[in-house]
Amino acid sequence: MWGGRFEGGPAKAMEAINVSLEIDQRMAMEDLTASLAHAAMLAEQKIINAEDAGKIRAGLETIRQELEAGTFPFRAAYEDIHMNIEARLAELIGPAAGRLHTARSRNDQVVNSFRMWVRAACVRAEAMIEALMKALVLRAEEHAATIMPGFTHYQSAQPVTFGHHCLAWVEMLARHKDRFESARARMNECALGAAALAGTGFPINRQMTASALGFERPMRNSLDAVSSRDFALDYLAAAAICATDLSRLGEEIVVWTTPQYGFIRLSDAFSTGSSIMPQKRNPDAAELVRAKTGRINGALIGLLTVMKGVALSYAKDFQEDKPLTFESADSLELALAAMTGMIADMSVNVDAMRKAASHGHATATDLADHVVRALGLPFREAHHVAGRAVALADTLHKNVAELSLAELQSVDPRLDAQALAVMGLEASVESRKSEGGTAPANVRREVAAWKERLK
Ligand code: ARG
Repeated sequence: MWGGRFEGGPAKAMEAINVSLEIDQRMAMEDLTASLAHAAMLAEQKIINAEDAGKIRAGLETIRQELEAGTFPFRAAYEDIHMNIEARLAELIGPAAGRLHTARSRNDQVVNSFRMWVRAACVRAEAMIEALMKALVLRAEEHAATIMPGFTHYQSAQPVTFGHHCLAWVEMLARHKDRFESARARMNECALGAAALAGTGFPINRQMTASALGFERPMRNSLDAVSSRDFALDYLAAAAICATDLSRLGEEIVVWTTPQYGFIRLSDAFSTGSSIMPQKRNPDAAELVRAKTGRINGALIGLLTVMKGVALSYAKDFQEDKPLTFESADSLELALAAMTGMIADMSVNVDAMRKAASHGHATATDLADHVVRALGLPFREAHHVAGRAVALADTLHKNVAELSLAELQSVDPRLDAQALAVMGLEASVESRKSEGGTAPANVRREVAAWKERLK
């Protein structure tokens, strides 16, 4: 492609470090679509004649069929996907192929195809996040009143409803989806027409190419267009933040499927056995979701580091943007698919959750709150009364809610039967009707709102 001034061929190591076809062939379709739009624009602007434009279009359509049929000849000798397509076009239509690259450079071409690829990856991530949200909303609906221990520091803290817990994940996922959407809105500008770095002297129509490719507008500055990769960083950041939260849900599944907790059971489809220990049901998928975060977060740091210190405009450093981004997208999509499958298929052990909630004095706060209301004590003093009740329960090896009235009154004679009633699990969760609280009525209301939003 640049034979004019070279005599010797590249060294083996030069070729090896330079070739990117293995990786960037994944954006063959984006590249081809952009070339079709570019050629149509060149013809419309009379930069190339109608006959050449027709040959180019026909040749590119043949290439599309070859790509779809899996018969396209990918050749590493042509370095990257852009030169592979152009070389193939030349084989198919002859010298007219050379006109396609008028008013274009691989610099605007590559980043534009990559933008299209990342934009599509955002759309996929958004849809997959939404699918996981829907699965969680259904579990929340079934379990609006299912009681489980809520944890802080991994310690039993206060009873919550499982539905409320599921909806916490829905809220988090909604923000993840939103991050991909806003990244996509920001990146939806067309780089084509920036050419190598400075624009072009040909009378191109960038608006036409931009709208043919579904972009909002052409990028306003050619140097920015060829040298910015913050759109990919936006994707990678959104993916890393999302994966980091998915790893936490993965951790909950790992813990909750242990026989010790037994809160949930994954379906056979999402469990693995052990070749030596017949009793095992391992939550491998949840562990791998947790672990994929390593790659996904690594890709973000990877590209940040690639971009760091690269002066304007294009440099070959940027070729390293694609393996990192593809890796991140693949891992994120796998994690989301596996997580959605696990959540949709799991069975919930309502009894185990309830049993766990009745240990660990989970309703001690309800007693303290009651003391505030019934005896008019400041909360700090009420906390001491409830604390003494917990200490007594500990010495009697029972849960604070299981104390008899006489035992409770030995802590403070002013306490009455109502003090016991408030420590019931249902009473506890039902009382937490504050906005955003765990009460089953709240969960049902929120489920209805989410179902409406996710329709
Ligand atoms: N494969 C290259 C990349 O990904 C395409 C652009 C090459 N441009 C250049 N001036 N060498 O960045």
